[in-house]
Amino acid sequence: MRIDIITVVPDLLKSPLQESIMKRAQDKKLVEIYFHDLRDYAQGNYRQVDDAQYGGGAGMVLMIEPIDKCISRLQSERKYDEIIYMTPDGETLNQKTCNTLSLKENILILCGHYKGVDQRVRDLFITREISIGDYVLSGGELGACVLVDAVVRLLPGVLNDETSALYDSFQDDLLAPPVYTRPEEYKNLKVPEVLLSGNFARIDEWRHEMAYKHTQERRPDLLKE
Ligand code: ADE
Repeated sequence: MRIDIITVVPDLLKSPLQESIMKRAQDKKLVEIYFHDLRDYAQGNYRQVDDAQYGGGAGMVLMIEPIDKCISRLQSERKYDEIIYMTPDGETLNQKTCNTLSLKENILILCGHYKGVDQRVRDLFITREISIGDYVLSGGELGACVLVDAVVRLLPGVLNDETSALYDSFQDDLLAPPVYTRPEEYKNLKVPEVLLSGNFARIDEWRHEMAYKHTQERRPDLLKE
């Protein structure tokens, strides 16, 4: 999989996407992630990428020309399965969307900044608009990090234990069951006996029961879906 990200602040993306599991995924060539600085496609001494909005009002808007240049160059090199715009008024990201995106070959992500992008960018290029939740961030970069992390960890070979993503919260509309590690007892708190039993059928059953109970308590809406 290849992911290209267009942004006015590439540094904001680098650390979250170049450490830990994301780094390993790239080292293992399971994903390629490229950052494109929108200013490299801007004109003039100031390399202007934004301007005041027509009709007045606070906040700058990202201009269409540099974005068009950047997207067109990338599109001339390969075909993108999705061109995603990160925005608080997009569809709310969920596990199903991450699963779907993890099957794509090439994804292009545009991060909004300031007041957003000229509407014509959305009309012309964007195939999908995604929000990471009902709150407003300073830009789409942190949202893009969340999206990329959630998608890349699903690619086969990224996680050490290949099956472990299958047991994540939300994968079957259930939250994950509790997990324990050593010691067996800590300040009178014991690891549930079943987990020490070695009986894997019982353990599976217990985990499913706990996942269901946990979901019922915290997210009953998931059970209705
Ligand atoms: N940009 C600003 N707020 C955002 C959000 N909630 N999700 C995605 N991109 C954003």
